[in-house]
Amino acid sequence: MDTMTKSRFFRLWLVLGSVFMILLIIVYWDNMGTAHFYLHASLSRPHILERFPSAKPGDEKYFTASIEEMLEKLLSAHAKQNSLLGKKAEQPSPPASSRPVLSNMEESVRGYDWSSHDAQRSPDPDRRQAERRSVLRAFCANASFVFPTKERSFDDIPNHELNHLIVDDRHGVIYCYVPKVACTNWKRVMIVLSQSLSGQGTPYRDPLDIPREYVHNSSTHLTFNKFWRRYGKFSRHLMKVKLKKYTKFLFVRDPFVRLISAFRSKFELENEEFYQKFAIPMLKRYSNHTSLPKSVSEAFGAGLRVSFANFIQYLLDPHTEKLAPFNEHWRQVHRLCHPCQIDYDFVGKLETLDQDATQLLRLLKVDRLLQFPPSYRNRTASSWEEGWFATIPLAWRQQLYRLYEADFVLFGYPKPENLLRD
Ligand SMILES: *[C@@H]1O[C@H](CO)[C@@H](O)[C@H](O)[C@H]1NC(C)=O
Ligand SMILES: *[C@@H]1O[C@H](CO)[C@@H](O)[C@H](O)[C@H]1NC(C)=O
Ligand SMILES: *[C@@H]1O[C@H](CO)[C@@H](O)[C@H](O)[C@H]1NC(C)=O
Ligand SMILES: *[C@@H]1O[C@H](CO)[C@@H](O)[C@H](O)[C@H]1NC(C)=O
Repeated sequence: MDTMTKSRFFRLWLVLGSVFMILLIIVYWDNMGTAHFYLHASLSRPHILERFPSAKPGDEKYFTASIEEMLEKLLSAHAKQNSLLGKKAEQPSPPASSRPVLSNMEESVRGYDWSSHDAQRSPDPDRRQAERRSVLRAFCANASFVFPTKERSFDDIPNHELNHLIVDDRHGVIYCYVPKVACTNWKRVMIVLSQSLSGQGTPYRDPLDIPREYVHNSSTHLTFNKFWRRYGKFSRHLMKVKLKKYTKFLFVRDPFVRLISAFRSKFELENEEFYQKFAIPMLKRYSNHTSLPKSVSEAFGAGLRVSFANFIQYLLDPHTEKLAPFNEHWRQVHRLCHPCQIDYDFVGKLETLDQDATQLLRLLKVDRLLQFPPSYRNRTASSWEEGWFATIPLAWRQQLYRLYEADFVLFGYPKPENLLRD
């Protein structure tokens, strides 16, 4: 062998060695369920070169180019393998013995029809999704429509602001959760899809079997903000690859109705955490109370509650966000989900939840795997809006609209003129 061939051989092995090390790192940090697949793929050496046909080992740029390509190929192979796994798991789950009577009753009372698999074959009935996405894109592209953070790129979004994006690698789905918009049930769906283990060590099959505390514990879900710890410097690139390949969805609702809903669940019901963190400061600052009871039950017993007006005043107070960003229950959807940086494939609305859930599960090709749980709770209705805002001064309502205007506009909710005029 002459030195030329020798050095080429040496370089080839160097590159293959590096690729192998990177694969090992990915395998190490990824969950063990899919590890054997990576090892298998990476050990069969000839395939590697077949997999990256555009990369030539002699090429100086081979290394970086091949990493980019490798990540993409790995990801699509990953998705393919997972969809196979998904199919295997698609046997209908046996009905849970404890609840079927209730859920059947609920379904028939509310007129649920889960048998519509073949009824509506159209992927986008009424072109509803096409319409929502085109409104969203038009306003994101419209330079005369501005809001803070609109112009930044995906790379400029700090990691901690990506904590609402839940990833399911098995089915290639990304869900941005918005509190007060059916998020408990959509998180449950994501748990079933990603086959998280239940306490007994078997995957959950029925979303309704999953306890609320587990659903809302952030350690349950794989979110984008956790990628750094898993994938280090590749994390942004990996996120972008997944954003390109996966189906991304979110659910939104009328912004003012969402605020009423947040107020009802966090301040009308006894909630110790929200009492301590938010109600006490609000009562002190906006109702001139100096000393307040230690616990929420004592406060409620003494008739001390935050009013809806206190809550609105808190949202409008410039002092509020100097301390910390809005709590996720009232933070604007565009700040939680970055709809101008992330091109969502599906924009669901709570106002059309039943139709949207059916359509989305079909789009994700998991409609035979699970059903979207019906909600039993007393949902805040749009028709209550005027009643709730009757006690709020007009100037505040107008200011509040400006604060949430981007959410109204981006998601096609009409300006509530009746609330914004005398
Ligand atoms: C762009 O946004 C402005 C301000 O919201 C609006 O008046 C205008 O109609 C929009 N233009 C288009 C083409 O949608
Ligand atoms: C969330 O789950 C983790 C792991 O199961 C557990 O250690 C932690 O205590 C839970 N957190 C809460 C707030 O329940
Ligand atoms: C609280 O006290 C300030 C000054 O003492 C007063 O101007 C304001 O009207 C009071 N607010 C309420 C809600 O009682
Ligand atoms: C729903 O909530 C409203 C207001 O919070 C209350 O007036 C109504 O009685 C509730 N309905 C049911 C069925 O619980």
